[in-house]
Amino acid sequence: MKLWGGRFARETDPRLAAFGDSLAFDRRLWEEDIRGSIAHAKGLAAAGVITAEEAALLVQGLEELAAEFAADGVPAEGAEDIHSLVEARLLDRIGPVAKKLHTGRSRNDQVALDIRLFVVRACRERRRELLDLIETLVAVAEKEEGTVLPGYTHLQRAQPVLLAHHLLAYAEMFWRDWERFGDCRRRANISPLGAGALAGSGYPIDRETVARELGMEGVTANSLDAVADRDPVAEFIFAAALTQVHLSRLSEELVLWAGEEYGFVEFDEAFATGSSLMPQKKNPDGAELIRAKAGRVIGDLVTILTVLKGLPLAYNKDLQEDKEALFDAADTLGACLRILPPMLSSLRWNRDRMRRTAEEGFLNATDLADYLVRRGIPFREAHHLVGRLVRRALERGVG
Ligand code: ARG
Repeated sequence: MKLWGGRFARETDPRLAAFGDSLAFDRRLWEEDIRGSIAHAKGLAAAGVITAEEAALLVQGLEELAAEFAADGVPAEGAEDIHSLVEARLLDRIGPVAKKLHTGRSRNDQVALDIRLFVVRACRERRRELLDLIETLVAVAEKEEGTVLPGYTHLQRAQPVLLAHHLLAYAEMFWRDWERFGDCRRRANISPLGAGALAGSGYPIDRETVARELGMEGVTANSLDAVADRDPVAEFIFAAALTQVHLSRLSEELVLWAGEEYGFVEFDEAFATGSSLMPQKKNPDGAELIRAKAGRVIGDLVTILTVLKGLPLAYNKDLQEDKEALFDAADTLGACLRILPPMLSSLRWNRDRMRRTAEEGFLNATDLADYLVRRGIPFREAHHLVGRLVRRALERGVG
């Protein structure tokens, strides 16, 4: 069933239908879509647009439909999009009263609501996973208290640092990511329902009450913005992309450190893979993949920003292209955040090797200069003296 057949005498060319239909990917919004419809039905009844009995029928039908989708899944074809599918299935289930559900609503404010609800949920999930990761980093830092390794600048050994210090640098990044997803969730968590197609709704629906019913913190202020805005999507994907960049930096260090040249850390066999040709290999595939997934999510960010750039108000079908990027960013980040904590906990740190590496390469040169300063030598002079000493030691091949 089409939602807009009245004006058309001819059928849609199947090629355009196949090209334009979004059900195959937006069906995963079924829960959000049904929640939104339940809240809208209650809002219609509260405004006296439909009767309480009609609203009860709609709500019950929608709840049964949700149970059916939860049990059997949602078909990938047979309707234009998830909104059309829900309405068609509701009609099969409860009959003509289903035709009243879409009063005072457009798919434009409906889909804007669905993606906001999705972003809110995805923020909550990613934040929980980020906390797990931070806790894991803190646990490893506690366990490795006192483990020393060379700290680097320019990838040259610089000064000795504690492994805990190094790992907790990443905890800081992930903590900021946690906060960013919180900001994103807060701004996403307002209801666009009532914006209609673009110009608002002709019915006296109490938008605030509908928003509260959905657990949202308020309502959008401008109906044109409400249906055209995809900032929640862009913000979510940016927060995801930056988190992936942080994950990528950490993964790169683990990959480097696991190589023989560093030899600081060893992957557990359960979190490493072998080579089909070289029998001796043990590869850190998991960390390498996390390192690479940043590229994918940065791609999602470029997708959404490019779709939005130059797009006139208000709704345009272009906005349907927000979803796959959003879902991909949410899924990719979730997968990385769930695999990293167990991988991190299972690492074996080569404390002796790290300490020996920190003892070579004059990493205490700065401390010696500072010592001379405490003995009354101006720092510039101390720096020069120690520099000459390093040069002498290098010439003589000693530490
Ligand atoms: N599938 C559409 C999307 O995701 C739903 C909104 C369609 N609205 C419209 N006026 N064609 O954007």
